[in-house]
Amino acid sequence: MLALTGATGFIGNALLNRLTTTGYRVRALYRPRAGRSQPALPGVEWISGDLQEAGALEALVTGTRAVIHCAGSVRGITQADFDSVNVDGAMRVAQAAARQKQAPRFLLISSLAARSPQLSHYAGSKWRGECALKKVAADLPWTIFRPPAVYGPGDREMLPLFRGIEKGFALLPAGAGRRLSLIYVDDLASAVARWLETTAADGQTLELDDGCIGGYDWDSILETAGSVLRNNKRVNRLAIPMTMLKTFAHINLTAARIFGYAPMLTPGKVMEITHPDWVCNNYAFAQLTGWKPMFDFEQGLSCTFGKNIAVPLET
Ligand SMILES: NC(=O)c1ccc[n+]([C@@H]2O[C@H](COP(=O)([O-])OP(=O)(O)OC[C@H]3O[C@@H](n4cnc5c(N)ncnc54)[C@H](OP(=O)(O)O)[C@@H]3O)[C@@H](O)[C@H]2O)c1
Repeated sequence: MLALTGATGFIGNALLNRLTTTGYRVRALYRPRAGRSQPALPGVEWISGDLQEAGALEALVTGTRAVIHCAGSVRGITQADFDSVNVDGAMRVAQAAARQKQAPRFLLISSLAARSPQLSHYAGSKWRGECALKKVAADLPWTIFRPPAVYGPGDREMLPLFRGIEKGFALLPAGAGRRLSLIYVDDLASAVARWLETTAADGQTLELDDGCIGGYDWDSILETAGSVLRNNKRVNRLAIPMTMLKTFAHINLTAARIFGYAPMLTPGKVMEITHPDWVCNNYAFAQLTGWKPMFDFEQGLSCTFGKNIAVPLET
């Protein structure tokens, strides 16, 4: 029996599918909302509750052999919005796990953003979440994954970009020289499955990527996306001037404060998406566990959009 948080989100849902099809029984936390009920899935026991509810967290982790903490807040206005979930939430789940007689192994899905905590409230909260876990780590065998940008079916962050590319344009911040790593969501899920099979990565903070050495620049991302989504037809890159992007971000933040929604485009997000270096590699995890990613960007994007391409087989 495993415990999983964030199973109703993009990455957590892929983890849930992967783990249950691998044969694990999974206890998954979900926040009940009007009009939302969780589907009955074979091998899944849903636990209703929030990361703030000690009772729900206790019920979630009791008797499990591993806890995969994937719930997180990727949108917000203030530092407190992010910290209450990404720091305090991580701490509470870890404490609940550490209180068990037989402490389960603990995997925190952090983010490559934690490498540069000064950039934004989000990045800072992911870093502080890692620190919070390490504070309770004396009683817990832990691992931290730092994935770069994750894409795949159900992703909402990169979808607008890909939808634009399908139509022949890509809105990107002006400026050159930025590089980033990527990982397809099924590869992240297979890394979690591999982590469960071995204790070799315990006590490690590990970056993961799709194996593209040196990452991608935006020209190569647009070229591949254009070939997959537009049959090689041209994609026009529309550069948004930085002053305009920052102005939009400030307006959006103000509107979010007034109308009470959780904004994606904020000044902090602008800092993240214009950061020059989001390149990482999976050498350490691959060496420790023998894991390797199966999807390059072309294959992952094809699968995301249901295009015909040979799906790689795991060896
Ligand atoms: N997407 C990426 O590119 C990426 C890259 C690196 C790291 N990550 C990390 O991966 C994790 C998942 O990201 P995602 O893209 O899958 O985000 P997502 O789709 O927004 O999913 C977030 C999940 O966390 C749950 N959650 C949030 N606050 C909660 C709370 N207070 N109590 C209980 N559950 C709560 C959400 O539940 P509800 O459904 O109830 O809202 C949802 O299941 C995050 O920790 C994120 O920092 C994501």
